[in-house]
Amino acid sequence: MSVPSMTLFHNPASPFVRKVLVLLHETGQQDRVALQTVLLTPVNPVGVLNESNPVGKIPALRLADGNVLHDSRVILDYFDHQHVGNPLIPRDGSARWRRLTLASMADGIMDAAVLVRYETALRPPEKHWDSWLQEQRNKIHRAVAELEADAIAELTSHFDVAAISVACALGYLDFRHPDLSWRSDNPKLAAWYAEVSQRPSMQATQPPA
Ligand code: BEZ
Repeated sequence: MSVPSMTLFHNPASPFVRKVLVLLHETGQQDRVALQTVLLTPVNPVGVLNESNPVGKIPALRLADGNVLHDSRVILDYFDHQHVGNPLIPRDGSARWRRLTLASMADGIMDAAVLVRYETALRPPEKHWDSWLQEQRNKIHRAVAELEADAIAELTSHFDVAAISVACALGYLDFRHPDLSWRSDNPKLAAWYAEVSQRPSMQATQPPA
C-alpha cells in the first residue's frame, strides 16, 4: 500500500466529512488520504485547520503540493475527477443539475441539523432561541418530506452524489436527532435508507457510537 499523499481534515461526527469518505470508498480511493482529526466547535477553533482553511470548516483537503481544497462539494468534485469508473457527479446535462440540487437539499438538512446540534449541545438552555430552533427543524421536515414525495426513484437509481449526500444527512439525523423520528412520516425514504446504509462505504464511515 502506498503512503497517502493527501490529508483530509476530518471529524468522524461530521456528515459533510462523511460524504467525502463515502465517495472515496465507493471509488476505491480511501487509501489516498490520511485523516487528520480536528475536534472543533464554533467556539473552539483549531489553529492548524484555520491555517489551511481560514473559515475553519471541515472537510478541508490538503493536496500533495500543499494547496488546500474546501468545502465538501469541491472535494467531492475533485475526487470524482480522480477515478476511472462512472462519474458520481454527472458531468453535464439536466442530470447534473438535478443530482446536484438533490445533494444541495441534503446539505441543507445537514446545515440545519448541525446548527440545532450546536445550539442545543453548546449553549445553556436558558439561552436557546426556540423559534430559531423550530425553524431549523421545519427546514429538515420539509426537505425530508420532499425527498419522500419526489425523489425515491431517483435516489434508488444510482448511488451517486445525490444519494450519498441524502444518506449521510439521514445518518446524521439518526446520530444527533433521533427525537425527530424522520422515519415516521417517510416510509419510502426509510426503506431506501435501510438498504443503502448496508453498503460497505456507509458501514465503514458510521459516526462514533
Ligand atoms: C457533531 O459532533 O455533531 C459535529 C462535529 C463536527 C462537525 C459537524 C458536527
